[in-house]
Amino acid sequence: EWTAANVVESLVADVKETIGDKRVLCALSGGVDSSVAAALVQRAVGDQLTCVFVDHGLLRSGEAEQVEKEFVEATGVDLVVVDAREQFLSALAGVSDPEEKRKIIGREFIRVFEQAARDIVGSGEREGHPVEFLVQGTLYPDVVESGGGTGTANIKSHHNVGGLPDDLQFKLVEPLRLLFKDEVRQVGLELGVPEVIVWRQPFPGPGLGIRIVGEVTADRLDILRAADEIARHELSAAGLDRDIWQCPVVLLADVRSVGVQGDGRTYGHPVVLRPVSSEDAMTADWTRVPYEVLAKISTRITNEVREVNRVVLDVTSKPPGTIEWE
Ligand code: XMP
Repeated sequence: EWTAANVVESLVADVKETIGDKRVLCALSGGVDSSVAAALVQRAVGDQLTCVFVDHGLLRSGEAEQVEKEFVEATGVDLVVVDAREQFLSALAGVSDPEEKRKIIGREFIRVFEQAARDIVGSGEREGHPVEFLVQGTLYPDVVESGGGTGTANIKSHHNVGGLPDDLQFKLVEPLRLLFKDEVRQVGLELGVPEVIVWRQPFPGPGLGIRIVGEVTADRLDILRAADEIARHELSAAGLDRDIWQCPVVLLADVRSVGVQGDGRTYGHPVVLRPVSSEDAMTADWTRVPYEVLAKISTRITNEVREVNRVVLDVTSKPPGTIEWE
């Protein structure tokens, strides 16, 4: 019988057997899959697991804290946080091209993770056996997609930890590889992973870096985070979380338009709301969010985020539009 408790029990037993008394690393992203995979491995082998969270500064408001505090408290994982915000910003300086941004973010991520892994592997603090394993939150659809050889075009390069150098070769542990997303969520709840993480909507690895159309800067990230937080808050308050697959908020950083506020003229940036409904992100339709909710989001963003003076709605399905703007 499929119950989350049974699945956890049998996966924990498998992981224990695979890892034995070796040590294991996991790169936590803050997303559902890596969080649940880490929680499961922690349940199986405790402190033989060390998680690495690379704070690249491209997360949304509150997400780093969710990993650093709530997740750690709920699961007891041994976590190393690397503050790489400056490094990512410098690497992204002057870059506007979307694919270039993805490459840079992927490359920097691997650099930072490698360094953290070396420190952990070589440190006396985490005594014991050498690190031999790396946890990945691969799900069944990922397995099918990469092994199935259906030849679907890779329209955007998705970044994953991979291609590590020779002195950092790990065996992969992929405890979720036979599960679908909804099953992973059940397993996560069973393991006590915080609900905000378990029910988190999909969020791209390159994060807000690909939701700023134009160059990524610290100021622009702050503007986008503020607008995104309002949109997320109001969509949740309206009870729409489960109806919406995800709702990117996009900052058109190189566009300005004239507005008026009080008795003054403004010359600010637009943000785009991109609420979509989807089953698997391969195709999507724009979500018919009620007008009152859109009005509330628009009023709040333009009142509370000084640099934004227009809120526009993306009413394009996928195809022809992709979900993200970059
Ligand atoms: P698109 O924009 O291609 O997005 O319609 C489909 C789904 O994939 C997510 N996405 C990414 N995820 N790295 C990721 O890990 C990426 O570079 C990336 N680009 C898009 C997107 O949020 C949506 O869920």
